[in-house]
Amino acid sequence: MNKEYDFLVIGSGLAGLSFTLKVADYGKVAVLTKAELLETNTSYAQGGIAAVTYEPDSYNKHIEDTLDAGNNLCRREVVEMVVKEAPKQIQQLIDWGARFDRESSGKFDLAKEGGHSEHRILHYKDTTGYEIQRALSERIKNHPNVDVFEHHFAIDLITQHHLGKLVKRMHSDTECYGVYAINFKTHKISTLLSKVTLVATGGAGNLYKTTTNPVIATGDGIAMIYRAKGTVENMEFFQFHPTSLYNPGERPSFLITEALRGFGGILKTIDGKEFMHKYDKRNSLAPRDIVARAIDNEMKIKGDDFVYLDCTHLNAVKLRKNFPNINEKCLSIGCDFTKEMIPVVPAAHYLCGGIKVDTNGRSWIKRLYAAGETSSTGMHGANRLASNSLIEAIVYADRAAQDAIEQMKNIKIQKDIPDWDDKGTKHPEEMVLITQNYKEVQQIFSVYVGIVRSNLRLKRALDRLEIIYKETEQLYRKSKLSKQLCELRNLINVGYLIIKMAMRREESIGLHYNIDYPPAG
Ligand code: FAD
Ligand code: SIN
Repeated sequence: MNKEYDFLVIGSGLAGLSFTLKVADYGKVAVLTKAELLETNTSYAQGGIAAVTYEPDSYNKHIEDTLDAGNNLCRREVVEMVVKEAPKQIQQLIDWGARFDRESSGKFDLAKEGGHSEHRILHYKDTTGYEIQRALSERIKNHPNVDVFEHHFAIDLITQHHLGKLVKRMHSDTECYGVYAINFKTHKISTLLSKVTLVATGGAGNLYKTTTNPVIATGDGIAMIYRAKGTVENMEFFQFHPTSLYNPGERPSFLITEALRGFGGILKTIDGKEFMHKYDKRNSLAPRDIVARAIDNEMKIKGDDFVYLDCTHLNAVKLRKNFPNINEKCLSIGCDFTKEMIPVVPAAHYLCGGIKVDTNGRSWIKRLYAAGETSSTGMHGANRLASNSLIEAIVYADRAAQDAIEQMKNIKIQKDIPDWDDKGTKHPEEMVLITQNYKEVQQIFSVYVGIVRSNLRLKRALDRLEIIYKETEQLYRKSKLSKQLCELRNLINVGYLIIKMAMRREESIGLHYNIDYPPAG
């Protein structure tokens, strides 16, 4: 199948769908998702979306909180832009039908999370992401200019390389003409051609054994751009959420939102002792890198498998009303969180780095944009401030959309693109060759490239990953494509970039904590 579109969008989360809704009045749009439309990281977001609404909050406070959490590695002009454009994009979400909780006065009910100096998190109970995803998905389905391709997996970007031309890394003339995608229900491979393409493929939490991310988060967009010789940055900054529910064997790990700590929840060790005062004066509401490291340290000192989040001193009626999803989940494992402490552990949660983009969401490949978690805008620096991800995704999707609408007027679809060539490939004899390597990658990352790193651990991780890389590339060249094989290959590419960039950063800062470089002060 060979199809042509004005806009091609890879990913159906907040970044992909909000871009789509903005460009769909200007041309035909294809939205590709490797799962169902609703199965995205966006759907799992709990706490909410950060934006300045009322005094005493101010743009300046949100900007300073973001820069502080990011350990001053953020791009200030980007932070200022996102914070100032946030209220307009919140209004856009409301206009599209997303609901946010309000007080009886009609004002937004604002929550607080780690690192925020004010209550500024808009939310819909503790299922904000699903509410946003629901509203946008309904709009998309009804738009006459949008074709949605569910279960279509983007394999690789199409560039001059596919026309037989040499493409060099950092070569500024590289262009993207579309994507090869496989429908894993029919196993047909299509060539989707476009004037412009947006990569909005989300994060890569599945590099780790314990993650809050759904199975779709395998870093595909970053791996595709890397293979197409684009530019990727800041990959060493992988954020661990301090509090996922300790429920061994459950994958993804269920998140216990930071808004619960903003509501008064307190972290304690298993013997019931508070510990956060030893690490930061903001106690349980310090930024995530600090809290996750503190929990990791306490668990190591005591040899415990988890710590507790204690909410038992808080108003039970309000707890159940504001956190119905968490209430239901905790009850399902026999824990009434209004009476008993919740067992929690850190889990891989958010990739701060990714595809480098400018302030219009343009990547370093022509005709190719990136937005959302797959991109690196400079907003998060060395550590993302809670609830700054959804807002960054929609602000950047808007900027990319405005730019793409102008750009596509002067662009023609590239013709003569060859079909995907899988001649001579066979089904792998044993899937275990793929599944075992996938598990090994997760093992390597969890043990050697986690919350605390060292030069030796990183070197070990690289040596082991190189073996798995060679085995997987060999298998890839001779195999018919499977989802597991494509995702494994992508995770290996993304993992390689994380280790290499972690090795290059000879300091401890934010989410990159290396015991060989003690932090200053
Ligand atoms: P996603 O929503 O992850 O969408 C990615 C899309 O890309 C999916 O449709 C997927 O199928 C598709 N895709 C991926 N690879 C391919 C491929 N090869 N081919 C085709 N399609 C592909 N952030 C906040 O700001 N506030 C919160 O409260 C919050 N809570 C969170 C709670 C949880 C449990 C998690 C996991 C994350 C949370 N985050 C939160 C982070 C935030 O949800 C994500 O960063 C954000 O939703 C990412 O949106 P996105 O559009 O970039 O990607
Ligand atoms: C949470 O609700 O704690 C997650 C917020 C985020 O990841 O920004």
